[in-house]
Amino acid sequence: METPVTVPELMTSKGRRRLVMVTAADAPSARWADAAGVDLILVGDSLAMASLGRSNTLTTTLDEMAHHVQAVTAAPRRALVVADMPFGSYQASVEQAVCSACRLVAAGGAAVKLEGPRAAETAAIVAAGIPVVGHLGLTPQSLHQLGGYRVQGKEVPAARALLCQAQELERAGAFLLVLEAVPAPVGAAITRALAIPTIGIGAGPGCDGQVLVYADLLGYATGPQPRFVRRYAEVGAVATEALGRFAADVREGRYPAPDECYPSPPGLAEALAPGED
Ligand code: KIV
Repeated sequence: METPVTVPELMTSKGRRRLVMVTAADAPSARWADAAGVDLILVGDSLAMASLGRSNTLTTTLDEMAHHVQAVTAAPRRALVVADMPFGSYQASVEQAVCSACRLVAAGGAAVKLEGPRAAETAAIVAAGIPVVGHLGLTPQSLHQLGGYRVQGKEVPAARALLCQAQELERAGAFLLVLEAVPAPVGAAITRALAIPTIGIGAGPGCDGQVLVYADLLGYATGPQPRFVRRYAEVGAVATEALGRFAADVREGRYPAPDECYPSPPGLAEALAPGED
């Protein structure tokens, strides 16, 4: 295995190389992402939609996230695994945030991510020895408050507010910041203003790295796709076509073929033939 990616290395990567992050929710996905050489794997709460068929991220529980973090971290890997803190696992108090972060690290995560301007929670989790990734812009756990999945920071005051929040998270000790669905100049301005790397998702090319959701990138997500999604494969179509051929082979007696059956010792078939017992 190659040398694992570390938090200090990621922090010094700014301006030297672009960081690559993808989401993953299970062991094979994590293995493929790692083999492709990504720097970070995010066990994102978007797995609620991508893997569990739900309509938003709000129902994801801490138990579910811990379960998926265990699966993703089951195999040795190079990429650093970030565990998303689900809705309801850090909003009640700073103490709740620290306990939830500890749970996800005990499940195998190397760092946690939480949404919104949560400087106090970030500082407390960092003080507990856990690296924190911030997440600003469109924060899907605030779906109802934001009035839908809308681009954030389009007006100058809102963009300036995002910049201040980003600086507060940096001061609180976040080592990385995800920026979601903001105009490209806002992504670039926040990236310039911070010493820590930014990872964009719909935040333009000026960020220090980019992240996409696995199912979006590989072409098996359902429903409307955000503007920033680029589909690098049509895995859904490949899977449906293969499963259709399997179904046809079974129905038409082409599967299994003789070389797909276990060899039978001499005499066994004869002994089991009708009328032989
Ligand atoms: O849950 C998730 O997949 C995320 C990404 C959109 C950054 O938070």
